[in-house]
Amino acid sequence: MKDLRVKLITYGCQMNEYDTHLVASELAASGAALVETVAEANFVIVNTCAVRGKPVDKVKSLLGNLRKEKRERKTPFFIGMMGCLASLQEGRLIAEKFGVDVLLGAGAIHKISEAVSKVARENEAFWDSGFYPEVDELIPPPPRGLSAFVTLIRGCDHHCTYCVVPSTRGPEISRRPGLILKEVERLLAAGVVEVTLLGQNVNSYGKDDPSYPDFADLIRQVAALGVRRLRFVTSHPMNFSDRIISAIAETAAVGQYVHLPVQSGSDKVLKRMAREYRRDYYLERVEKLRRALPDLVLTTDIIVGFPGESEEDFQETLSLYDEVGFDSAYMFIYSPRPGTASAENFPDMPREVKVERLQRLIEKQKEWSLKRNRSWVGRSVEVLVRGVAKDDAWVEGHDQSNHPVLLEREGVSGPGLYRATIEQATPHLLLGRANERLLAPGERA
Ligand code: 5AD
Ligand code: SF4
Repeated sequence: MKDLRVKLITYGCQMNEYDTHLVASELAASGAALVETVAEANFVIVNTCAVRGKPVDKVKSLLGNLRKEKRERKTPFFIGMMGCLASLQEGRLIAEKFGVDVLLGAGAIHKISEAVSKVARENEAFWDSGFYPEVDELIPPPPRGLSAFVTLIRGCDHHCTYCVVPSTRGPEISRRPGLILKEVERLLAAGVVEVTLLGQNVNSYGKDDPSYPDFADLIRQVAALGVRRLRFVTSHPMNFSDRIISAIAETAAVGQYVHLPVQSGSDKVLKRMAREYRRDYYLERVEKLRRALPDLVLTTDIIVGFPGESEEDFQETLSLYDEVGFDSAYMFIYSPRPGTASAENFPDMPREVKVERLQRLIEKQKEWSLKRNRSWVGRSVEVLVRGVAKDDAWVEGHDQSNHPVLLEREGVSGPGLYRATIEQATPHLLLGRANERLLAPGERA
């Protein structure tokens, strides 16, 4: 179809951001125009998240609006749905209800141009929820800006009982190392300063092919290309080996930041979640990390109100929080997801109990975040300023340990990497002043 004007809308995690960028690049290469608003578009594609009920509800309400738009428009208007929800039976039912034209599961997004042009030309639906190896062969062009994501591995081989991801993204498949290194080289040539390596479980990289490096060696190989700042998400404690800890400690570009989801502090709950480890094992990993990385900034994911979680179990999560002293945490209320083992086998608990526990956990998190953030006051950090000014007084960035940082506007001359001194802390961020710009966009590290 001539005059294809596509608006992409993204929900969910960084993997989805990466996939949206990939799809945008494919569509642009096939001649479509990417537009900023639904009003300008004749094809709207929603990249969906299915991990909890809330993002699914958001997608449904958006699709409702798009269906209305489609009915009211005098000219052709198409709706696309891609990503995690599009891989699931639940998603296909939703797509049917809202008259979705293109549906591509997370493992089929390489078909986007084919799907969009077929639908626009023949006005026939194109649905595919399959998983294909071709999806890993695409290399998206560098995005604009100083930070970029690179997918290492798709899917997950764990079977946490609450989680839809193994169904939405399939089993673990590592991308070819040559492809990853080529992608990183292109990013560096385009002036990218910070690379975030992505996967549901990056620690397992290479396990599916003996000829591939493991994650520890891949970190070294990527850093050796000259990446100034290297990060990775997300990790599973069972796969966070001593080799990986050593690789992080040896690789200056990685910094001392780890996101290590714990989910619960109670052995009973961990077992029901099928997390494969006990509290003590998690604490031992943390101790080892802290020994290797004395300035470690450690963040985590926690689910409250998992079925059968008693007050005592929840107290164990609170006590684990104190024992570790996390710098920050993403905290979630348990959300029963269709098709998952926990939703099928265990009854959900009353919402009031879950909400009340979440509030107590948030209080705990704020206390610790303030304490931990205050320990950075007076210290010198490197802050990556991506560009946008927060307001007249402050500019937003983040440091090598991934703290959000506000820098006084005076002293920041534009996007780039700055040496800065931290002067204040809140539970949510650090505030400071830039001392010098270390790197401007376009300069090689
Ligand atoms: N309910 C609540 N939180 C969940 N997560 C995954 N599945 C669920 C669910 N069903 C959380 C976990 C995971 C993060 C990405 O989302 O904490 O680490
Ligand atoms: Fe889901 Fe568990 Fe895999 Fe993470 S490790 S994606 S929580 S199944």
